[in-house]
Amino acid sequence: MASALRPSVRRFATTAVRAASAASTEASTTNAYGIRVSQAQGVVDQLTGAIGNTPLIRLRHLSEQTGCNILGKAEFQNPGGSVKDRAALYVVKDAEERGLLKPGGTVVEGTAGNTGIGLAHVCRARGYRLVIYMPNTQSQGKIDLLRLLGAEVYPVPAVAWENPENYNWQAKRHAERVQGEDPERGAVWTNQFDNVANRRAHVETTGPEIWAQTEGGVDAFTCATGTGGTLAGTTRYLKDVSGGKVKSFLADPPGSVLYSYVSSGGQLKERQGGSITEGIGQGRVTENLKTEVDELDGALTISDEKTIEMVYRCLDEEGLYLGASSALNVVAAKEVAEKLGPNHTVVTVLCDGAYRYADRLFSGKWLESKKLKDAIPERLRRYIVLP
Ligand SMILES: Cc1ncc(COP(=O)(O)O)c(C=O)c1O
Repeated sequence: MASALRPSVRRFATTAVRAASAASTEASTTNAYGIRVSQAQGVVDQLTGAIGNTPLIRLRHLSEQTGCNILGKAEFQNPGGSVKDRAALYVVKDAEERGLLKPGGTVVEGTAGNTGIGLAHVCRARGYRLVIYMPNTQSQGKIDLLRLLGAEVYPVPAVAWENPENYNWQAKRHAERVQGEDPERGAVWTNQFDNVANRRAHVETTGPEIWAQTEGGVDAFTCATGTGGTLAGTTRYLKDVSGGKVKSFLADPPGSVLYSYVSSGGQLKERQGGSITEGIGQGRVTENLKTEVDELDGALTISDEKTIEMVYRCLDEEGLYLGASSALNVVAAKEVAEKLGPNHTVVTVLCDGAYRYADRLFSGKWLESKKLKDAIPERLRRYIVLP
């Protein structure tokens, strides 16, 4: 790695390693673990080098309750604040490797959420323009955030996937237009749902990290799907490395069709209803999910009531301030642990923090409007601090 660094950076890295080993002698009794981790990490190149290698946190209360080890991968620690940084980096790297993006080129994606934020960070760090299409039903806050991270944002009418005016197809056409006008620098529609570079991010990073962190001691993995990249990629790696021993379960919110797809052995229902969760739930089997969906060991459907209770429990019992998709994943991990019985290790994903959702998840009015206030146990209602 060091040979890829500029000489000044290499000098700094060498000095940092020397300083760390000196410090490791001095502090070996106080922070030996921290020093070992710092030494292993060394200096990373650019923001993109800081994506991944997130801690795996043992959730103490739920582990004690189930007699299992319930572990959450702390994806909120990525520089863009979510698991989607991994996919963002891989779809951009894939476009570079395929020669579709040259310095100063343009990345276009259809997204209202974390992928856009991840792409904005990666594009700034690597010198690309970023154009985002999103449904115009999204909050001004999301639009502002993407713009302040340097993206050009187009909110467009919210129409179904099948409609050519859907934000994803508009993103695709925008990339084709720019590519035609500026072939030297290039433009690419990164297409997170069906571009399997997304899934590869998790085959090459999330899966191996979990295997290494548990020293091969993981029995089951579970998480929800948006694009399906996290579930499919992590499942692929863990199944391959364990010779099929690690079990994998899909966790689904209401309004998604995948629970019934997996449970019925492949029947795709019409999408109905919705959920308070963001970034997860699907109406179809994406290319990212396609190759692994038949290898799953089952699926769970998690109600919004259970999810919101877990948002509050994770905060109160573990000190973890998590978004709703993470809380849903934790409920799923608990249910998988109960299914497997004591003395198993179940891993899930803590996708992002609650920061972007606080005005809803911790608002009394909003909870009442969703009929979810009663799902929060009396002892935890003191966290409902917003009107
Ligand atoms: C908060 C959150 N959780 C979970 C996911 C799902 O991840 P994946 O797209 O890898 O299925 C997303 C995807 O956007 C997300 O934003």
